[in-house]
Amino acid sequence: MHIHVLGAGAGGGFPQWNCNCFNCDGLRKGTIKATKRTQSSICVSSDGVNWVLFNASPDVLQQIQDFPALQPARAIRDTGIQAIVLIDAQIDHTTGLYMLREGTVKREIYCTDMVYGDLTSGNQALNILGYYCGINHHQVPIDGKTSFTIPNVPNLKFTSVSLKSAAPPYSPHRNDPQAGDTIGVLIEEVSTGKKCWYSPGLAEIEPHLPELMDQADCIMVDGTFWTNTEMIDMGLMTKTARSIGHNPQSGEGGMIEKLDEFGLKNGQAVRKVLIHINNTNPILREDSAERATLTQHGIEVAYDGMDIIL
Ligand code: MLT
Ligand code: MN
Ligand code: ZN
Repeated sequence: MHIHVLGAGAGGGFPQWNCNCFNCDGLRKGTIKATKRTQSSICVSSDGVNWVLFNASPDVLQQIQDFPALQPARAIRDTGIQAIVLIDAQIDHTTGLYMLREGTVKREIYCTDMVYGDLTSGNQALNILGYYCGINHHQVPIDGKTSFTIPNVPNLKFTSVSLKSAAPPYSPHRNDPQAGDTIGVLIEEVSTGKKCWYSPGLAEIEPHLPELMDQADCIMVDGTFWTNTEMIDMGLMTKTARSIGHNPQSGEGGMIEKLDEFGLKNGQAVRKVLIHINNTNPILREDSAERATLTQHGIEVAYDGMDIIL
């Protein structure tokens, strides 16, 4: 199974257009050791030809240009992207749908009822695509048991589960969490049994998740913030990380402590990768103490263009 990180940044990317935090300013000026990151998306394939796009980032056109495997050029209009799975309805995961409007072949969209509701009401993205390429909507099961496959994507199987994060600010249930607002997905390559867990929005590793996460050879989880009060401390927001759906890495109950609970799979070390990293996060600085702490715990920080082959 080939997992390619198209964008490892959170909403806004890194550097964010209007941000002059230590990281964004330092990246522009070349005074910190870090690399830019586009907004949150991965793509996955077993055969290297047919790909599933997870989330449609505002940066998707650049991401496709940067990863030629997504453009096999077999016809006058063509793409390697066979389907799009949306893990939530957040702006950084869905705005790229507008960029993928051309053509007469309908986009195959896999999402929960809750996400479909948000993207056909408060945010009309899926309705608007109807005026261009059109879509086929496939309802994603969220019981953590019922797997689904995607036509034209051979050898991959997907099991998704509802998890605790947050619906987008524009959603009527932003502060009233509903099952299916956000999902995590276990991606399995059928022939090898290799599995990857993907949950870029994750406020808490609730008791029902380890059953799925335990199966994974690679765990890719929410790496948005280092502390729960990161945005408050910088004067950028009045809300905590957890309250907007992102479990921070440090502290009690944080992602580092939780990831320490996952060790070996079939005698091999499980890869632990943080993704959806906010531009304020000190782990973006490759020589930071926070990054060193992650390394000590065997945790990697995703970057644009990262390839994971399982
Ligand atoms: C989030 O992950 O919390 C959102 O994508 C933030 C945003 O919309 O910028
Ligand atoms: Mn986001
Ligand atoms: Zn910034």
